[in-house]
Parts: sequence; C-alpha cells; structure tokens
Amino acid sequence: MRLGLVSALQQEQTGLIDLMAHPARMHSGMREYTLGEIEGLECVCVLSRIGKVAAAATATTLIERFGVTHLVFTGVAGSGDAAAKVGDIVVGSQLLQHDVDASPLFPRFEIPLIGKSRFAADALLTGELVQAAQTFLEQDFHHLVPEAERQRFRLHQPALHAGLIGSGDEFITEAAKIRQLKAALPDLLAVEMEGAAVAQVCHEFGIGFAVLRTISDAADEAAPVGFTEFIDAVAARYAFGIMRRFCRQ
Ligand code: ADE
Repeated sequence: MRLGLVSALQQEQTGLIDLMAHPARMHSGMREYTLGEIEGLECVCVLSRIGKVAAAATATTLIERFGVTHLVFTGVAGSGDAAAKVGDIVVGSQLLQHDVDASPLFPRFEIPLIGKSRFAADALLTGELVQAAQTFLEQDFHHLVPEAERQRFRLHQPALHAGLIGSGDEFITEAAKIRQLKAALPDLLAVEMEGAAVAQVCHEFGIGFAVLRTISDAADEAAPVGFTEFIDAVAARYAFGIMRRFCRQ
C-alpha cells in the first residue's frame, strides 16, 4: 500500500510531514510531493491548492507518477446541514460535484458520459478513517486542541458524521445557496471545493479513496471570517491527530 495524502492548503497539513521518516521531496506540475513513511506506512504528502481542477491534477499525478494505491483527502468544509456544527468531523461516504449541470443533455449533477453523480468512497479506507477520527475525538482532542481554541470556537464535544459531501468551484457564503442545494440533495452534510474531483479521478483509475473534513464554518454570510480563523487556529490539529492515528492502525 502506498497512500497519497492530500490537503488543499498548508494549514490543513501542518505537522504531518514532520512525522515522516526519511522524507524525500520531488516537484511536478508546480507542486511539492513529499515521499516517506508515517508510522510505518508508505505515504506521499502534497498540497493540491484550492478547487476541483487543482485537486484532479494532483490526484492524477499521485496515481500516474507516484504510484499511490489509495488516496485520502483531508481538510475543512462548510456545513451543509444543521446537524454538522463547527468542529464536527464529516467523513464522505459519497462525493458529488454540486456545480455540474449539463441539463437537459444529462440530469443535473450527473458527470456526462460517466453516467453517475455520486462517487462512493472506499468502504475499508473510510471505515479506518472513521475509526481514527473517533479515537482522535475520544483520546486526543482535548490535549491537541488547546482550551483557549475550544472556547473560542465553542468546540465542546465534536461529533462525527458520515454521508454526502458536495464539491464545487465556489466558496459558499450564503445560507440561501445551501437551502437551494438541500432542496435537490436532502442528505447533503458538507460543502467543499475538491473532494468529488478527487473521487472522479480515483473512480476513473480504479483507486480507492476517502475524504475527511472538519467543519470550519456554516457556509453562510459569516463563512469568510469563520473559515479563516478556524483554518489558522484549529484545522491542522485535527488533520495531524487523525492521520497519525490512521497511519498507525
Ligand atoms: N470549505 C470550507 N468552507 C467552505 C465554504 N463555505 N464553501 C466551500 N468550501 C468550503
């Protein structure tokens, strides 16, 4: 197994590369790929930058050039459901590109000529990610996330959810937009900008993938401030804690 470990931004991956034994850096397509072992597991870490094209290019390079056999994307997301609160973790059981609409040629959300709108995450990988996230919340959360940050973001006992994650090339800052999406996708839990692009690439190459997101904001009018503060103060602590647990398993 060789795991590709992708986040969009530096703040979502801080600390993970420091866990790597014998890290080797390589460059391709304006990105730095770090190869090494985390807790004995062969990994390739990379930052994709933001958006579906960036994520798809990164996933393709990981598969074609670096030979990853599995891929995990971690980062933050806006909430797509009242039950998913800031600080909660959402693991994607299905990924969908909420900005794809080639109707009337194809149904809304369907990826033309692939014949599907929802890409299922790898059940085994996702199960292991859920396990790692659960252990993180139970055993690591309180000492990895300092009390000052827990109070500032009102992170009391974060919950873990599994379900539909929607991706699109849009940072959502309107509650009305989420209401519109929910009307078409009632089971939507979180919105972000990369996961479903990685899911499509992995589907096309027959590679198992999983996506884990920490809710940083409510995807409403307050999202820009909420996102920026959360990503700087908290996001990396989740990613580090959860992926360390995951690689150990
Ligand atoms: N990632 C984190 N917050 C987001 C939002 N509000 N919209 C899209 N992607 C996000």
